[in-house]
Amino acid sequence: MIVLGLKCFSHDTGAAIVGETNGRLVVHAISEARLNRRKHSFAYPLMSIAYCLDAFGLTSLDEVDLICIDRHMELWPEAGSQFGYAAAQARRHPRYDDNYRWNYLIEQTLKLDHAKVRLINHVDAHAASTYFASPFDSAAVMVAEGGTGIYRGEGTTLGVVDRMGYFGDTWRDGKIVLPRKDHFVNSSFMYDAVSALLGYDVFGAGQTMALAGFANRFAQRDRFTVEPDRFDGFIVNHDKTVQDMQSLEPYRGNDTDIVAEPWVNLARQAQEILRTDLLYLANLTRTKAGTHQLAYAGGAALNCLINAEILHAGIFDELFVQPAASDEGIPLGCALHGYHTLGGKQRFVMDNGYLGKAPSPAPLGDLARIHGLAVGSADPDAVAALLANGAIIGRCVGASEYGPRALGNRSILADPRAPGMKDRLNAQIKHREGFRPFAPSCLADAPPDWLKAPGTSPFMLLAGQASEIGKQTAPAVIHADGSSRVQAVTREANPGYYDLIRAFGARTGCAVLLNTSFNDKDEPIVETEEDAINCMLRTGLDAIVLGDRLVSRTTLTRAADPEAMRRSTTERVDFAYRGLIERFCDMEAYVALALRLNEDSA
Ligand SMILES: [Fe+2]
Repeated sequence: MIVLGLKCFSHDTGAAIVGETNGRLVVHAISEARLNRRKHSFAYPLMSIAYCLDAFGLTSLDEVDLICIDRHMELWPEAGSQFGYAAAQARRHPRYDDNYRWNYLIEQTLKLDHAKVRLINHVDAHAASTYFASPFDSAAVMVAEGGTGIYRGEGTTLGVVDRMGYFGDTWRDGKIVLPRKDHFVNSSFMYDAVSALLGYDVFGAGQTMALAGFANRFAQRDRFTVEPDRFDGFIVNHDKTVQDMQSLEPYRGNDTDIVAEPWVNLARQAQEILRTDLLYLANLTRTKAGTHQLAYAGGAALNCLINAEILHAGIFDELFVQPAASDEGIPLGCALHGYHTLGGKQRFVMDNGYLGKAPSPAPLGDLARIHGLAVGSADPDAVAALLANGAIIGRCVGASEYGPRALGNRSILADPRAPGMKDRLNAQIKHREGFRPFAPSCLADAPPDWLKAPGTSPFMLLAGQASEIGKQTAPAVIHADGSSRVQAVTREANPGYYDLIRAFGARTGCAVLLNTSFNDKDEPIVETEEDAINCMLRTGLDAIVLGDRLVSRTTLTRAADPEAMRRSTTERVDFAYRGLIERFCDMEAYVALALRLNEDSA
């Protein structure tokens, strides 16, 4: 049995595929943004579909048994469409690459057996993405994001206890209590509202969390009034809280002066409210679902400080946070939900985040000659020596990570002890806000004694706390509040990365590497070796590891023209989409529908 899961609507579209091979469940997943190079892409996930089919050696959608699609909104203008004819006619082109017309044309003309399509509620997909990937035989499940949900997972079944959001039916205590409950401002939307006041878009929660880390530098002062009567069972309603925020002036600077009293207090207050609300929900989940294990997902589950608090609060004995906790993980949830709903009995345990594929080797000879790069062997000791000498090195090796965290295979690595490393990385490589912290990777079986680890942390989703010695030893990976979002690497999960960290430790006495995602500002994490080389030529990276090869900058290396590079990427992606439309869509129907849309909107 092979099941494809898709997110086709709104941001972070993508695909996941699950299938039984030799008595075990094999899973691959990818976000469209990684392939079309448009951050948080809204595009119909044709590239992801091709990527997932290819991972199983398939060429056509006819070869899968079930296609499960995220039912992100239920108030569609047209039955069976996520996009709708009216929206397609309006040719909406808002931010990012959101294009209803294009998506609608593909959706309506995809060559597939519609009897094989099943729609999965968005919040249910989040719940499935964590419980069905967890190591637990039974667990309480909590979803905290634009929607909210409490579930009970038992073996291969997942039961709804409480659920609301995205215009789906509202459930309370296992029963539908309200069909199609409208949205209100829950804790996640409250946090987004504060991020917006700080000048960030809906993907800015990480910046707000980072800014809150400077709270101890300023006297505490609340910036807005929090609704005290916001709790009604699992519903936490911040409508009044956000109304009160409307009197606040938004930040209008350019990030250089944002670490200041009013903005840090704003972020701190949002972080404290979210913490209160999520601990409340975790306690409620424990009471309602009644187990000692928690599987957790939703955008709020990327808040590594609160995750550590949930774990330490003793509400649950064990916590599993699926690394693609935000909407990037929806395709995985759809695929696993569909597989188990069809009666699939094999359980998938996500003990590492590498659900992508290994990249094809780039033609290095030609690229090295054109760009003046040197190619050598990526022996772990040689790479460790370069890192110890201050080099900043990208690593593009093996299967890519699923979700927003780079876990060594699509990572930029550096020496965490080096003075000024954090500023150099932010300014030269990542081109991002100077206040944002970097995270460390350490060996799971030999963590540094200066870091109070938060328990098993394979996915950088639990914050640890560093001692004073730690702050002096590895300043580049410890935030202003002493927290450190550690990744504990096991040899089983990633032998190549483990050996590199160990080699760095043998050389320096500090078996810890600074690990940040392999991308430039406004660019998704790299997927292919060509993406990695492009990123190197646009930024100040000293070298990159591609498989077992090390590609280094030389005196002959010229900086690339970022505009020309962007144009050539756009051309390549457009060409690829044209081919994929011809491959997956009924072209006669596609052209006829395109003409009808043109006529009707004329
Ligand atoms: Fe979501």
